[in-house]
Amino acid sequence: MANLKVNPSKVYDFVSKDAIYSLKEEADAANKMLHDKSGKGNDFLGWLNLPSSISDADLTDLEETAAKLKAKADYVVVVGIGGSYLGARAVIDSLSNSFDHLQTNRKNPIMLYAGQNIGEDYTSELLDLLKDKSFAIVVISKSGTTTEPAIAFRLLKELIESKYDASEVKERIVAITDAKKGALRTLADQEGYKTFVIPDDVGGRFSVLTPVGLLPIAVAGFNIRQLVAGAAKMETLTTPEVPFEENPSAIYAATRNALYRTDKVIEILVNYQPKLHYVAEWWKQLYGESEGKEGKGIFPAAVDFSTDLHSMGQAIQEGERNIFETIIQIASPNKNVAIPTDKADLDGLNFLAGKRIDEVNKMAELGTLIAHVEGGVPNIQVEIPALDEYNLGTLLYFFEKACGISGYMLGINPFDQPGVEAYKKNMFALLEKPGFEAETEAIKAKL
Ligand code: PA5
Repeated sequence: MANLKVNPSKVYDFVSKDAIYSLKEEADAANKMLHDKSGKGNDFLGWLNLPSSISDADLTDLEETAAKLKAKADYVVVVGIGGSYLGARAVIDSLSNSFDHLQTNRKNPIMLYAGQNIGEDYTSELLDLLKDKSFAIVVISKSGTTTEPAIAFRLLKELIESKYDASEVKERIVAITDAKKGALRTLADQEGYKTFVIPDDVGGRFSVLTPVGLLPIAVAGFNIRQLVAGAAKMETLTTPEVPFEENPSAIYAATRNALYRTDKVIEILVNYQPKLHYVAEWWKQLYGESEGKEGKGIFPAAVDFSTDLHSMGQAIQEGERNIFETIIQIASPNKNVAIPTDKADLDGLNFLAGKRIDEVNKMAELGTLIAHVEGGVPNIQVEIPALDEYNLGTLLYFFEKACGISGYMLGINPFDQPGVEAYKKNMFALLEKPGFEAETEAIKAKL
């Protein structure tokens, strides 16, 4: 069972169904290139078969490690940035109670994040919070040398070492990194931390179905087997053997490329469930880092509706007509709240009495869809039946596969990120990192 549906019909006023389907050969060829590993970046295609290749033993190891951390710690800090935290946070936030951190009688630790920024206040406040709490750390870095998580881990390691003896520290830190190289691998081996490996052929933004995503998700109390099962189903539904008409990832990739070729250069991912906020953050990295290169690529943006209809709605409705939207729709929410009758009816909302909030939300969604399409904004609809592990698994793999196909249709290498280095080089030059003397000279001349 996989019930993810892609509906591009609200694009047809802008690019016809024929125009989209005329890209069928291109999309199919791109998909084949992924599978026969004949395209650019073909040494980073390990993600393609992750869902079907993960073993029962690997899942058990992750579950057992998660259980140990859960038993020990009230707080678990995930240290990582970009692809080393966004996938986990996307799933955890989507599945958690919206007020999770305020729940009492918890079965699972409170998940916190560090190393995803270098804000001093954030870091200081986190350390302050944790100093008298029982906590554990999952530190994630493929390269093992990324500055933001390295700084955060240095501080958290110092704190945890000040609270517990060496053998207990070892029980409370898990590292997820390269099999052999990098500073984190060296440190983890020296200190005897439990480790999991990020495969060489899986880039950060495609790593949610490796221990990078799966361990924190399991620690947070969610069913990683169901997540993987959903992704595995989507893996089978998007192979090159599946006809274009039935392949949701190929249809999505072709639709967005057809729009891009008519100068719709910005794609806004829309949700009507605030829990999906980090799915959009994960998606932005996936598409932004994969496609934005060589002067090309659809710029990925995101909004949470109806919240952002009250801030971004005007610009989307009537601003520059270079945007399209992709809406993530959840067929039915997990909870059920009806709107009550009010005797005075001062707000005039008694006509809604007895209706579920979701009905209002769905009508806001439909009303917005119609208004935006009439205002010149094409809409692609992506629907999953419910917010649960299985359906999130289908959604994540669906987007990953479409990203690979779309990147090849664009003619770029979707699996590298050379542009990310530019800021790092300047930052190190400005901080006068040893070895960067020439860059320091050069950048000082520009100030
Ligand atoms: O997708 C990517 O490759 C990047 O966003 C990385 O995930 C991010 O920079 C973190 O890198 P690392 O895991 O090496 O610390």
